[in-house]
Amino acid sequence: MDYNALLSNLKNYLDYLQLVEGDRLFINNDHIKQEFNLLNVSNTNNNISKYNNEIANVKELFHISINEENDLDWKTAKTLQEIYSKIKDCQKCPFGKSRTHFVFGEGNPSAEVMIIGEAPGADEDKIGKPFVGKAGQLLTKIIESINFKRDEVYIANIVKCHPPNNKTPVEDEWKECLPYLIKQIELIKPKIMLLLGAVPFKALLGSFHQITKERGQIFYYNGIPTIPTFHPAYLLRNPAAKKDVWVDVQLLRKIFDEQKNIQ
Ligand code: URA
Repeated sequence: MDYNALLSNLKNYLDYLQLVEGDRLFINNDHIKQEFNLLNVSNTNNNISKYNNEIANVKELFHISINEENDLDWKTAKTLQEIYSKIKDCQKCPFGKSRTHFVFGEGNPSAEVMIIGEAPGADEDKIGKPFVGKAGQLLTKIIESINFKRDEVYIANIVKCHPPNNKTPVEDEWKECLPYLIKQIELIKPKIMLLLGAVPFKALLGSFHQITKERGQIFYYNGIPTIPTFHPAYLLRNPAAKKDVWVDVQLLRKIFDEQKNIQ
């Protein structure tokens, strides 16, 4: 993409954004840090749809956001540590008020394997790290059963704060948190992902999915092979399902090894 050409066209592109009077537009990148309060906006252009792709490109390239002042900084973060320091005091959902720790995630920042759970439990809330309780100990065994070390993968959750009474988070509760995980995935760039249970499966791949029917299949999240399987907490209640997870993680290992051989 020709950055200079885009820069010179930025003003034109801004004319095509569908803004209304009173909107606030924030541009925050290495070149421009500016806020615009929009007054007297009249968007009479009839060709907006024609420009949608260009607008999406320019928005991403220039880090343009509309009415999202507080999100500016973490969205442009370049490291996991930087995102963490910018989001750790988040209070966007009700779980923020009652949490002890914001459980960001843990592991190798350049991990090739990313494992995504639902939300921190009480143990994780106390300690501030994902999967440290009984389900976490089982997860460690699962990871080691396919010859990975726990500290070479990256483990995170859809929701970063402990839901009181271990409530399963519903969409309204995870939708504010999901962009944080998406940014973590963008920075880590895993080669393969394992989703633990229905919540990450639905949140990342679509709410119509059903873990019981579709576990153990290969899906693609932004081109990354992604395998949903049962959550280790479910295995603690239903040990008979361990054999299914065994099959699913063997598949993960196989795809991972195949990718390595192709490279
Ligand atoms: N269950 C999860 O989904 N995540 C954790 O971190 C712990 C338990």
